[in-house]
Amino acid sequence: MTSNTLPGPSRNEVQAHRGASALAPENTLAAFQLAAEQGAKWVELDVALLGDGTLVVIHDDSVDRTTSGSGSLGDLTRADLDHLDAGSWFGPDYAGQRLPTLDAVIAELGRLNLSANVEIKQHKHHKSLDQLIEAVEASISTRSAVTEIMISSFDPLALAAMHRREPGLEMAMLWGRPPEDWEAQLAAIPAATIHMHYKALSIGLLEETAKRGIKVRAWTCNNPMELVSFWDAGLTGVITDNPALFLR
Ligand code: G3P
Ligand code: MG
Repeated sequence: MTSNTLPGPSRNEVQAHRGASALAPENTLAAFQLAAEQGAKWVELDVALLGDGTLVVIHDDSVDRTTSGSGSLGDLTRADLDHLDAGSWFGPDYAGQRLPTLDAVIAELGRLNLSANVEIKQHKHHKSLDQLIEAVEASISTRSAVTEIMISSFDPLALAAMHRREPGLEMAMLWGRPPEDWEAQLAAIPAATIHMHYKALSIGLLEETAKRGIKVRAWTCNNPMELVSFWDAGLTGVITDNPALFLR
């Protein structure tokens, strides 16, 4: 637990990465439920399309690593989800967890009083950006009043397309290390938030972003001491596998 005497994020600026994925199987309802139990207000999750256009919550472009099955997402359909165990790989307590659709997660977030950073993944099997963006838009439109949504992506085209459809949503550009022309790239989307790898943080960059009203969140940090020097310089928030470490 972060000491109350040290600088740290507000409760609203701690995002549980793929849910509380240090302690439960990533991107499952169990991981989102655990984030809520820990007191988180926000979760980060990854979305991609199956071959039949079903929008699912998963990080990789195949189910090999995080389920009992195998194969590319592009070769799977909604009916396959009933036969995949997305929890046993993590531990026997989580046997029977499903690879969830975004619709199912959005419904659960409403019950859990959680908000979500929806990270749009671009994979080779995706047939069109429009199909992907339309699926995300349709799913998030089902959210309850308690659930806020923001969008992030490593793909500026996905952010630009989503911004055209949903100009009121916060858009976050994902970079490992922001490029030299970060300001111009953000303006082109347009986006006013950077999500960057915490190892690439610098006081100099935070001073520049703060001057311009640009938010910066750091991923994926699981040690509060690594960020202590950045909060007073303007770091906005953290995306972490273990939100309990940052919540206070
Ligand atoms: O949102 C930050 C983080 O999720 C980006 O990387 O690969 O974990 O989705 P990844
Ligand atoms: Mg992600």
